[in-house]
Amino acid sequence: MKLFLDTADIEEIRTVARWGVLDGVTTNPTLFAKTSGRSYDDVLAEICTITSGPVSAEVIADDLEGMLKEGRHFAKIADNIVVKVPMTETGLEAIAAFKAEGIRTNCTLIFTANQGLLAAKAGAYLLSPFVGRLDDINEEGMIVIRELSDIVNMHGLESEVLAASIRHPRHVTDSALAGAHVCTLPFKVFQQMVRHPLTDRGIDQFKKDWAAAQAALGK
Ligand code: G3P
Repeated sequence: MKLFLDTADIEEIRTVARWGVLDGVTTNPTLFAKTSGRSYDDVLAEICTITSGPVSAEVIADDLEGMLKEGRHFAKIADNIVVKVPMTETGLEAIAAFKAEGIRTNCTLIFTANQGLLAAKAGAYLLSPFVGRLDDINEEGMIVIRELSDIVNMHGLESEVLAASIRHPRHVTDSALAGAHVCTLPFKVFQQMVRHPLTDRGIDQFKKDWAAAQAALGK
């Protein structure tokens, strides 16, 4: 399973890239709003210099012409830009048009397997069900990941399932086990995945034992 970083923060992206585990980046208007003083275009262009993996850039327009204009503009920023389009009737039309033009898309705000199936048939490269937001309303977000991954694999669809709205490390494990092709996670969850108290305790113990052994040797 590929791991994407769900952020527009350049330093976070550089950090995870240095760890050697970054396969791509997803951004959205909310994440961009947390960065300051730069245009969305500038931020996207810099992200695309850090990773050669897919970088999702989300359209704001809700009419077809506007979506196509914004998406075509994003696609010119770098070869690895993927245009993020919401799951609406117009969004499906835009996804089909982008597919015909050779522009890759990420269909976002998916909450059911049927929405994902429609996006796949329209030609979306990535299908993004939101796990955490379903959990927030007392539903089981992981069911959509499992159902949609099964549908994609069973019917040989070309799209990839991208588990989004990831809130904690267990969501990552469960997405991998449910068959997601990609999981996009906040920086904090990447850090949480690295850590374990027994790892910390083990490092402390090794240091203490090493120091004791050195002292016994008179060093
Ligand atoms: O990329 C969009 C998605 O990951 C949003 O997550 O936490 O705002 O539901 P969240």
